[in-house]
Amino acid sequence: MDTYLAVDRSAPRHECWVTGHMVAGLDGTAAIGGKVGALSTDVDQDLFRRMRQIADVVLVGAETVRKEGYGLVRLSDEAMAAREALGKPPTPPVAIVSGSLDLNWQLKLFREAPEYAKTMIITSESADPDALAEAKQHAEIIFAGTTRVEPDVALQAFAQRGYQIVLCEGGPTLLGEFVAADRLDELLLSIAPVMGGDNLPVGVTPEGAGIARYELQHVMHEDHTLFLRYEALRDEDPHDV
Ligand SMILES: NC(=O)c1ccc[n+]([C@@H]2O[C@H](COP(=O)([O-])OP(=O)(O)OC[C@H]3O[C@@H](n4cnc5c(N)ncnc54)[C@H](OP(=O)(O)O)[C@@H]3O)[C@@H](O)[C@H]2O)c1
Repeated sequence: MDTYLAVDRSAPRHECWVTGHMVAGLDGTAAIGGKVGALSTDVDQDLFRRMRQIADVVLVGAETVRKEGYGLVRLSDEAMAAREALGKPPTPPVAIVSGSLDLNWQLKLFREAPEYAKTMIITSESADPDALAEAKQHAEIIFAGTTRVEPDVALQAFAQRGYQIVLCEGGPTLLGEFVAADRLDELLLSIAPVMGGDNLPVGVTPEGAGIARYELQHVMHEDHTLFLRYEALRDEDPHDV
């Protein structure tokens, strides 16, 4: 697993390096009963936690926050010390992409976020003013688009804050937005030894999006789980529209 942490992510193709981290069943399903927990084996959960060590920000879609009751990023003492040695805060902030701003403000993600890693909401200028006023009381708001969140604009805002590595933890709709915008540099995909989950593939690109192409960089397996690491093609346009 250390191989994944050690990857050189210092030369992104665009504003920041975006790593998607997802787990799928053998049939490609991204959830079981609306949650990812039953898909993830112990070794996969360990990788999931450890990858957060490298993130300047953890990016997640609002539906995942609603369905999973997303929590704060917790890291081991060793991981926090390693981050601090690099001049990073002990844990990365979470940034939630939402148009509706329909979120449970009682979550620890909003109530207990440390000062150095305040939770952010990425939304568009067309957000409902009342919902926006409420959201501002619980999180930092970043506008990244007029009618919807545009991945490139969100990443420009991150880059302005000095963020270099964005860890996108899904869900499939948010991941699909970044794929369609050609903003996914790397995909860590765990294949768990189960079939028969929800009818939700691991990535859902918006209608009309082209096919994005990737190159396989690493393969590992442990505990019947396959770990694949892909990077976007560099030498040619990875989009075949
Ligand atoms: N297998 C895995 O690794 C994995 C990882 C994460 C989640 N999951 C599972 O995936 C499911 C949820 O995924 P999902 O695909 O339904 O939803 P999602 O990607 O988590 O969130 C979708 C929501 O994000 C917001 N959003 C996304 N793109 C936007 C844009 N361009 N502009 C504005 N808002 C945008 C919208 O929020 P609003 O509705 O608030 O406007 C949208 O409804 C859950 O069952 C979860 O357990 C699986």
